[in-house]
Amino acid sequence: MLGNFTYSNPTRLHFGKDSLNALAEEIKNYGKNVMLVYGGGSIKKNGIYQKVVKILQDGGKNIVEDGGVMPNPTVEKLYEGAKIAKDNNVDLILAVGGGSVCDYSKAVSVSAYCEDDPWEKYFIRFEDVSCKIIPVGCVLTMVGTGSEMNGGSVITNHDQKLKIGHVFGDNVFPKFSVLNPEFTYTLPKYQMVAGIYDIMSHILEQYFSGTDDNTSDYIAEGLMKSLINSSLVAVKDPCNYEARSNIMWTATWALNTLIAKGKSTDWEVHMLGQSVGAYTDATHGMTLSAVSMAYYRHILPYGTQKFARFAVNVWGVSPEGKTAEQTAKEGLAAMESWMKSIGLVMNITDLGASEDMLDGITSGTFINEGGYKILTKEEVKQILKESL
Ligand code: NZQ
Ligand code: ZN
Repeated sequence: MLGNFTYSNPTRLHFGKDSLNALAEEIKNYGKNVMLVYGGGSIKKNGIYQKVVKILQDGGKNIVEDGGVMPNPTVEKLYEGAKIAKDNNVDLILAVGGGSVCDYSKAVSVSAYCEDDPWEKYFIRFEDVSCKIIPVGCVLTMVGTGSEMNGGSVITNHDQKLKIGHVFGDNVFPKFSVLNPEFTYTLPKYQMVAGIYDIMSHILEQYFSGTDDNTSDYIAEGLMKSLINSSLVAVKDPCNYEARSNIMWTATWALNTLIAKGKSTDWEVHMLGQSVGAYTDATHGMTLSAVSMAYYRHILPYGTQKFARFAVNVWGVSPEGKTAEQTAKEGLAAMESWMKSIGLVMNITDLGASEDMLDGITSGTFINEGGYKILTKEEVKQILKESL
């Protein structure tokens, strides 16, 4: 049964080949000082940087640059960005990049005027924001995280070997996001497929929880079918606009809070993946693919009916003459072959993890309570061992 909820999503999206044109209008809503945030330089090579800078200059903005945001942004970089934003009296933070750049921009937006240590306040104590928030806008260049329309922000602390996400409220969501599928064409295949699995994982995390009849699960099944279909096209033909635009739109819906409304959710694969990420600094989507099969096979006996439904409704497995368990297992096998066929990393060894790290990764894995089995620390370690 649907639980009680409030739903609102304040992010205005501009989608399509001409969507960057909307930036000129959007920036009129903010003051003169725009902090232009980007990553390691892909946007300079593919020309997006030049286009954005021209729009900002034509709009009479004073540009404060903050480049070099690394994948899996670090707490040190956050402190640096917060200082830049405050010192320059920034009116708008414009994130041009993937999830790392968008997440980092949101973290900076709530840290610039924070009187406490933002790592401690937001990522250790999970407190709400109690200071002025600088508005954020995004121009997305990498698809997967959903950061363009949510309040998520994930920061890595290498000294503490922790990678932690804070889900901020809708006052921290981007005010607007520009989504042009063509901006993602220059992504290396490794990043594209990692993003595809990140999307799949977001949907699965919200789907594999609860046993009630819930509209969100039907939406989730539709999103997964579209994603699987388009992923098979995109790996063969990366510049296929239809496939890339479907993947981009699916990513947004997978994690803009809608399909979690009124239902319980799991998120244990992300807890495992983030802890692997804290030790290896590996690409986020690959940390999820590398632990997923071991995790899902482990919890299948506790949620057999839902896994059987997944097999039938998403993978087209026929339940005829089979037990629910057999059907469920066939569904997971179908997912595994799809994962291998698009080129995902299927074990954590390939990401640089080793047996001697397992105790540390286990202790850095938060245990959630919304999945079909609340794991013990021993089970976490066992799943990680099976993922090696
Ligand atoms: O840094 P540059 O040079 O731009 O290169 C990036 C980076 O190396 C490259 N790239 C991005 N767009 C490109 C491009 N290369 C060529 N052409 C383009 N158009 O791709 C690499 C990866 O980028 P990144 O932003 O790190 O990837 P992603 O979007 O997967 O973001 C990952 C981060 O988001 C967090 C992850 O934990 C990780 O820290 N997440 C955020 C979430 C949220 N906000 O809700 C939820 C997710 O579960 C996730 O945890
Ligand atoms: Zn994710």
